[in-house]
This record gives sequence, C-alpha cells and structure tokens, in this order.
Amino acid sequence: MPDDRVVQRTASVAERVDAIEAALEARGLEAAAAIEELGHKATEEWVPRNGARVVAKAWVDPAFKARLLADGRAAVAELGLAMPKHHRHLVVLENSPRVQNVICCTLCSCTAFTIIGLPPDWYKELEYRSRVVRESRTVLREMGLDLAPDVEVRVWDTTADTRYMVLPEQPPHTRGWTEEQLAAIVTRDSLIGVERLPGT
Ligand SMILES: [Fe+2]
Repeated sequence: MPDDRVVQRTASVAERVDAIEAALEARGLEAAAAIEELGHKATEEWVPRNGARVVAKAWVDPAFKARLLADGRAAVAELGLAMPKHHRHLVVLENSPRVQNVICCTLCSCTAFTIIGLPPDWYKELEYRSRVVRESRTVLREMGLDLAPDVEVRVWDTTADTRYMVLPEQPPHTRGWTEEQLAAIVTRDSLIGVERLPGT
C-alpha cells in the first residue's frame, strides 16, 4: 500500500524554543524575562562561592559547624543562603583524614545548586553517575584524586528532596586566616568531593 502521508520535517530545537516562547508570551507569561532572570541566577547567584563561604564559616566557628552538620538548610540560611522549597534537606558531609565523601546523582543531575553551584557537565554524564558508585576509587583516581588505601570512600546519591555538600578538611597552613581568605581556596570540586584541598 502506498504511503501517502506527508513527510514532515522535525523543527529544530531553536524553532521549538521560539514557538514555546511565543505561545507563553501570547498568554502574558513573559517568557523572555523569565529566561533572562534564570540566566542571571545561574551565572551570578547559584555559584560555588556560596558553599565556599559556608565551609570557611564552619572552619572558624565550631558552633556554626555543629549547627551545619545537624541541619544544613537552617545553618546556610543564617548566611542568607536560600534553597528551593523541594530541597527539603541539606546534608553536610564532613571529610576527615580517613574519610572522603563524594556526591553524585545516579538518576540525573541533582545537586544543592543554590549552595554549591550548578553541576559541571561531567557530573551529568552517565560515565560518572554509573561508575562513581561502583568503582569510586578508580573514578576518583582518574579525576586526579589518588586516595591512600586506608581512606574510606563514601558515595552519596542525591534524591529530589535530600541534597548534599561536602565539608572539606581545612589545610593546616591556613589556620588563623580570615573567612574571606579561607573561602577563596575552597573549590567547586572539593564541595562535590572529587578533590581534596592542597595540604590535606
Ligand atoms: Fe538528579
């Protein structure tokens, strides 16, 4: 039987985005402004600098650190840092000389993004998500973190309502530094747990 259906070209992503935007605008939903706002948040507000401030504060203030480990969401709010409503829990994982905590999201790409920043591309790759839970030591070594055999690796799989942040160890030579100085040495990767700070 001859196929007389009209062959339709699939619209490009750009064309589909334009169509959705036009449909939203037609209903008064101001899509362009929302996209602009989201872009601003992604580049200016949801940045690892937030998590770095939290870590620096925890290093210099033991009482804050205790609150942070007990209820991360409430503690970061003390520093004016907000989390979306559905991020119900922020669990802060403290590293030690014998324990390295690592975060992943085996299902997709969830993170505590308002605190540690939006996830880097490799965090969203199937390669990282599937392997870090099964051969974490190997994956960390491939990423440049070669842990001694007596260091325990703990991998934490993010869920919709429970988000994680790693609290890296403070390098001994930074004792006595100001919070600003300390925050400047805390990297995004150390907040995810695939890096240890130099000197630790
Ligand atoms: Fe996810």
